[in-house]
Amino acid sequence: MSIKAANTENILQAAQIIKDGGLVSFPTETVYGLGANVYNSFGVAHIFAVKKRPTFNPLISHIADIDFMSEYAQTDSRAIALAKKFWPGPLTLLLNRKDNNPSIDLACAGLPSITVRMPNNPIALELIKQSQVPIVAPSANISQSISPTTAQHVYDDFGEKIDMILDGGPCSVGVESTILDLTSKQIRLLRAGGLAIEEIQAFLGEKILTSEDIPAKITAPGQMSKHYAPKKATRINVTTPQEDEFFIGFGNMECQLNLSKTQDLHEAAGNLFAYLRTANEDANTSKIAIAPIPNIGLGLAINDRIIRASKKE
Ligand code: TXA
Ligand code: MG
Repeated sequence: MSIKAANTENILQAAQIIKDGGLVSFPTETVYGLGANVYNSFGVAHIFAVKKRPTFNPLISHIADIDFMSEYAQTDSRAIALAKKFWPGPLTLLLNRKDNNPSIDLACAGLPSITVRMPNNPIALELIKQSQVPIVAPSANISQSISPTTAQHVYDDFGEKIDMILDGGPCSVGVESTILDLTSKQIRLLRAGGLAIEEIQAFLGEKILTSEDIPAKITAPGQMSKHYAPKKATRINVTTPQEDEFFIGFGNMECQLNLSKTQDLHEAAGNLFAYLRTANEDANTSKIAIAPIPNIGLGLAINDRIIRASKKE
């Protein structure tokens, strides 16, 4: 069994695996990542293979030291201010690459840009430090299925196909990081996530463009509409569920599982992926229904994920 307690000894062993080109799943505050050494093309290629992920879909580099960002990305005062304010934390920055590092081409899917983030989880940070390289890590799930928020979720998807899973307990945020595109003058939201855009806008004092502003242009390459998908047909914004539906509620209501009885969106985000898995595996129902979630704060990320879950294609 490759699930290991995240103690010092196992983190050191995991760091050695990363350095040598192996794959380690590790906890972050958002979801579990499937990590490899950014410079090791064998390791990076292995991520695409085990996840069944298209190689044109680039990976986020995880760093433990802010200085690493300027090593291979073109930074400016705006990027540095955002990093200083929100890192470590659930924010990923998309920046133009410096062209000094062809060895990270595969991780960046050959694009002239790179995404970077510093996760707010002591196990992740220690693993990156001990590995002495940035770690590329997509969510540790088979492509297009539900992201993992526990070590067991990772094991359920990959079993013994990866070298180690570091168990750090359930993820505190529960949805992936917010991705901001900083490559043009006006900042764009590429993916709603664990850091509310209201918070970022308040800090910057400027509006971030979202898909509502320019719908066709804003998408991360991996943001295909069918994503995070349970196998069961899923309906959203449901107030009256049907007999054969597993009902995931929100607020004070009767349901099989409640994302948050007190309508706390942080609590709801933390529960979302685990509840989708439970609903998907429930033998007594053939479909899933989810109650309406307000579209503010972390509700933006929750709605993004459940809309994708409800798409057929
Ligand atoms: O919270 C997170 O961000 C988690 C944890 C493990 O850190 N990681 C994660 O990675 O969600 P992944 O690969 O599942 O999602 C990253 C998204 C993908 O949709 C990818 O297409 C997009 O970011 N992305 C990465 N690099 C990009 C780039 N250079 N340009 C545009 N989109 C990029
Ligand atoms: Mg993912």
